[in-house]
Amino acid sequence: MNVYAVSGAANKSRNTAEMLKSALEGALSVPGATGELVNLYDLSFRGCVGCHSCKLLDKDKFAKCAMRDDLSPVLEKAKEADVLLLGSPIYFSNVTGEMRSFLERLFFPGLTYNKDRGTTYAKRPKVGWVFTMNAPGEFYNELYSSLAGMSGRIIGETEYAIAFNTQQFDDYSQYAATSFDEEYVKKRHEEQFPLDCKAAYDMGRRLAGGESEDEQ
Ligand SMILES: Cc1cc2nc3c(=O)[nH]c(=O)nc-3n(C[C@H](O)[C@H](O)[C@H](O)COP(=O)(O)O)c2cc1C
Repeated sequence: MNVYAVSGAANKSRNTAEMLKSALEGALSVPGATGELVNLYDLSFRGCVGCHSCKLLDKDKFAKCAMRDDLSPVLEKAKEADVLLLGSPIYFSNVTGEMRSFLERLFFPGLTYNKDRGTTYAKRPKVGWVFTMNAPGEFYNELYSSLAGMSGRIIGETEYAIAFNTQQFDDYSQYAATSFDEEYVKKRHEEQFPLDCKAAYDMGRRLAGGESEDEQ
């Protein structure tokens, strides 16, 4: 059982990173599971350039991203995983630009323009998304469904876990951010965020085929 986690979060020890790590820990808690996490912000790469090489009938090119950069090995590992965990904060009502560029390169070689619009990926890793945001969680229901729909169709069966009203800074008094109630956000971070991480852990464990620890 091979688990691969891809983080589209710039901050390596805040909300999204913590939640994604919890999902990975959950998956790795299943006996026999091994895995690793990659941070997209550590890599140098671009989104799809629309060269259409991956649509060529030439078997050496078909369904492969022709671009060569730091993302090339990441795409290979993502396709070969049994469980693929993806994490992103919401930036301007979408995933981060880095995550979006990664998805373009992951998704486009995975779908054909043939009539059945079938996936080209023989292996169908299970996918677990983690999203974090400041807005109330239901603000982006359509986004989660659309992304889960796409990864479900092109990659494999998909679930997601979210954390909302997240704590963005340690000390709100240092920032121009009066629309946030610091006390509320901090309390939520102390009380709700650990539960959100637990939900992500459970998701990772479930996707890796583990039983719920609560029922054991
Ligand atoms: C550039 C930028 C854009 C953001 N846009 C949104 C947004 O559209 N909706 C939202 O709910 N939160 C938005 N946020 C807040 C983050 O999604 C939220 O704080 C998230 O938990 C940050 O994740 P992190 O702690 O892992 O960095 C934005 C934050 C930044 C820095």
